Parts: sequence; structure tokens; C-alpha cells
Amino acid sequence: KKAVLAYSGGLDTSIMIHWLRENYGCEVIAYAADVGQGLRELDDLQERAKAAGASKVYVLDLRREFVEEYIWPTLKAGAVYESKYLLGTSFARPVIAKHQVEIARKEKADAVAHGATGKGNDQVRFELTFMALDPSLQIIAPWRDPKWNINSREEAVDYAHKHNIPLKITKKRIYSEDANLWHISHEGAELEDPWQEARDSVFNISNTLEKAPDKAEYIELDFKQGVPVALNGKKLSVVELLLQLNEIGGKHAVGQIDIVENRLVGMKSRGVYETPGGSILYAAHDQLEQLVLDKETYHLKQHLAHKYAELVYNGQWFTLAREALDAFVNKTQEKMDGTVRLKLYKGNIVPAGAKSPHSLYLENLASFTNSELYDQKDAAGFIRCFGLPLKVAKLQQPPKS
Ligand code: ARG
Ligand code: SIN
Repeated sequence: KKAVLAYSGGLDTSIMIHWLRENYGCEVIAYAADVGQGLRELDDLQERAKAAGASKVYVLDLRREFVEEYIWPTLKAGAVYESKYLLGTSFARPVIAKHQVEIARKEKADAVAHGATGKGNDQVRFELTFMALDPSLQIIAPWRDPKWNINSREEAVDYAHKHNIPLKITKKRIYSEDANLWHISHEGAELEDPWQEARDSVFNISNTLEKAPDKAEYIELDFKQGVPVALNGKKLSVVELLLQLNEIGGKHAVGQIDIVENRLVGMKSRGVYETPGGSILYAAHDQLEQLVLDKETYHLKQHLAHKYAELVYNGQWFTLAREALDAFVNKTQEKMDGTVRLKLYKGNIVPAGAKSPHSLYLENLASFTNSELYDQKDAAGFIRCFGLPLKVAKLQQPPKS
């Protein structure tokens, strides 16, 4: 028997390699995905997974695919969960799990395993992807397994020592965190009390508002069919673009959110997220859409963005519904070319200009001069018709006695 484990290099998934062999009697292939969480600093991943008992180790760089096939579609859709969350962890799971299934097939494995707990969203996202892409694979979730009796960090460390599993001593953060090219999430510790303000030390890839520079910075983003292609006039690879935007945005403390969100599994949870580059891109993209999209399309798209966000948050990436929404969104992005200028200042992303060869904004139409396109006299008849139901409703009210 053979299992492929999504391995992060952290404590939990390190001991899972050993635990799977012991409890399922299977060969374990460890698989680590680089989605921009800073894996290159963990270059001993291979050796540590082997030392923990993995028969084979895969480390895949998925950064570009993650951006182009998961982040860009979600950005184009304008999807935001519960008005704030830009879905940074949500869409990382399907890309990780997709390649896990591919490895399982290539290695003729029987099972796939992940280290998500039984309380969160991530388990759902992993498993829905497994189910959608290869229903024949057995799914093992050690954290939910009756045989799993490791219930604290201390017990996990003991287990590692007992079985000679090498651990990487990293600077211990008190939060439960998930990082990638798009964002970093923080949950747990003082954040579990919604009456507690997030400590300054939560912020990891961005300045606190107080430390952000007192001087504003302007940036310019070029878009082609709804996707960013250049920063300050310079064409960049998608990975480099996000790295640079995170740097600039982080400096100015933009894209920090603090949310009590509704998890799919029913409970509420408090989280702080840093999405500096992503927040800039959402703001810029929307500004361009306001020029390029007609009213009907823009409004319809806003409705569907809610649905898109739910699908992504809930792990329903590999569904016909999401693909069909993508078809709609891509149609709306065909003329989304242009340039957006933004001012970044102490946590704010301020519009500072936008232009597009396909702009529908006509300067002299909105201003007060009459033109051939618009005659103010037409408005009178329009308002009479538009307001007619209001008049009728009032006239039909029975007189108060
Ligand atoms: N609550 C966020 C979400 O559901 C972040 C989850 C973070 N995951 C983690 N393994 N720390 O997308
Ligand atoms: C986890 O439970 O593994 C992390 C939190 C989440 O999935 O929402």
C-alpha cells in the first residue's frame, strides 16, 4: 500500500510520515508544493522527509500555475468572501491537491493524506479536490483518525523525538498561519477573543500603520484582458509582479484585514490577513472595470462575484459551476486593457487615475452641456414612466379616516 502525503515540512506533517507507516502499514511519499510560502529557505525538506521515513520526496514549484490559473481567475471575478477576505488560503488548496492526485496516479498510490485539522475549511478543500479529480483514491486525514492520539504540540514533539524524526527549529510563532505568494493568514492566540485588538507582532509581511512611511507612493499598473502585466511600466513575470507588489504594499501597510468569518463547517473564526499586493490588484482591477464595463455587465458581475467567492471558499474549485462562471468572467474581460494609477499611503489605496482604449466614459456626456447623444428633455418622459408605479401605489392607498 502506498500513500502520498501533502507535506509542509512542519511538525505535524513530519510526524505524519512516520505515523502513516505505523498505522496504515503503507509506504509514504512526501509531497511539498511551493506556492510562494518561502519554501526555498527549507531546502533540507528532502532530507528531513526521508529521515522521517518517506520513500520518496517530491518538491514542486507551483508558483506560476498558482498565480495564472487560480489567483488571476479569482481576481478577474472580483471574488471576495464576506466583504473582506481575498481567499488566499482557499485557492491554494486546490492547486496543491491537484498535483498530489497527479503524483498519486504516477506512483500508483492507493491513498492521499493531508495534515488539515477536523475543524477547519482546509480539510474540505483538499478532499473535494481529491474527490473531483480521482474518486478512487482513499483519503486519510490523520487529525480526524480515531487512531491519532497526539493532542498537543508537546505530544507531537515527544513523538518526533521518540522516533528520531528531525524537526526544523523555526522561530516559534504563536499563531496558526498559512502563507503563500498572495497572502498570509493568522489565527489563534489573542485573536480568538474578538474583543482583543491584534498585536503589532501579528503583522509579518507588512508594516503596522504606525510604521508605514509618512510619504505617499504612486504606482502604475498595466492590465491586459483583466490581468496585470506591468508595474510602473515594467513588464514582469507573474511571480515577480506579486513579489514586488507585496513589498511595496507591505511597506505602506495596505491590505490588512481583521475578520470574524463563517467557516464552512459551521463555526465562526477570527482571523487577521495580510494581502498587500492582492489588495492593490483588486483595487486597480475594479477601477479599470468602472471605465470599461457597461452598467448591466458590471452589476451582474458583482452578483456573481459573491457566488464565485463562496465556491472558492468552500473548496468547490473543480466544479462545472466555477468553470461556467469563468466563462462568463472571461467574456467580460475581453476589453479590460488599460492603466491604473494608485496612491499608497498609510494603509490606504487611493485612486489616482485610470485610462483604457476601451473606456466607455465620455467626458462631455456626464458634464452639463447638451449633446446629440443626450437631450435633457428626454429625461422628463423617462422619469414619468419610471416613477409611475410609485404614483399609482400612493394614489391607491385608502384614505385615512
Ligand atoms: N480561515 C482561512 C480560510 O479558511 C485561513 C485558513 C488558514 N489555514 C491554515 N492551515 N492555517 O481560508
Ligand atoms: C486547519 O484546521 O487545518 C486550519 C484552519 C482551516 O482549515 O480553516
